[in-house]
Amino acid sequence: MTDAPRDFLIAPSILSADFARLGEEVDNVLAAGADIVHFDVMDNHYVPNLTIGPLVCEALRRHGVTAPIDAHLMVRPVDRLIGDFIDAGASYITFHPEASDHIDRSLQLIRDGGCKAGLVFNPATPLAYLDHVMDKVDMVLLMSVNPGFGGQAFLPGTLDKLRAARQRIDASGLDIRLEIDGGVKVDNIAEIARAGADTFVAGSAVFQAGSEADPHRYDSVIREFREQLAGIR
Ligand code: DX5
Ligand code: ZN
Repeated sequence: MTDAPRDFLIAPSILSADFARLGEEVDNVLAAGADIVHFDVMDNHYVPNLTIGPLVCEALRRHGVTAPIDAHLMVRPVDRLIGDFIDAGASYITFHPEASDHIDRSLQLIRDGGCKAGLVFNPATPLAYLDHVMDKVDMVLLMSVNPGFGGQAFLPGTLDKLRAARQRIDASGLDIRLEIDGGVKVDNIAEIARAGADTFVAGSAVFQAGSEADPHRYDSVIREFREQLAGIR
């Protein structure tokens, strides 16, 4: 690893936003300093919950959102929805290797569509899925909860897995982001960063952070995340 500070990116998960005012919620987190919009897509098949799809992604783009949108696909099969999310304006598209019959093909589909491609690892999914496709991923996303719901507790075993993923990425010399998703809070983000993550999804921690006076202002939690990350290399 070099001595240069890593560029840390904060990616609020809109799963915990107020869906009745989604455009405004996304505007607010971005105005508060978030870098990426994390967009959780669940199909009630691969995971036991049902959320939002490409129409909502497209609506956010039409609303004027220009920040990167990170579409986390918890769906099976994945390939058709990859095309839909490319058309809907996603920037990153990540999927779970167990949900694709042809992982290499799915990754290629994403890059061919001009998007950045990523693989997502559930807590019990081995990093070995990266062995033959490392040069085809732009992002490695480690789940620190079992996927399907916001508001779960961070699984501490993920820290060792993060260190292993960081080693693989550094050894490859490739430009790959290492994202963490699930249970990220102000009081654990520094430890997570020290274990190697550079991109932090946070749903409940962000969207429950508004004050009573102004429940939809998120500046303070984003600032606290950055304070925790300051100085970590
Ligand atoms: C879970 C989702 C996460 C979730 C994170 O399946 O992938 O993005 O929204 O929520 P918190 O930050 O509340 O754990
Ligand atoms: Zn997610």
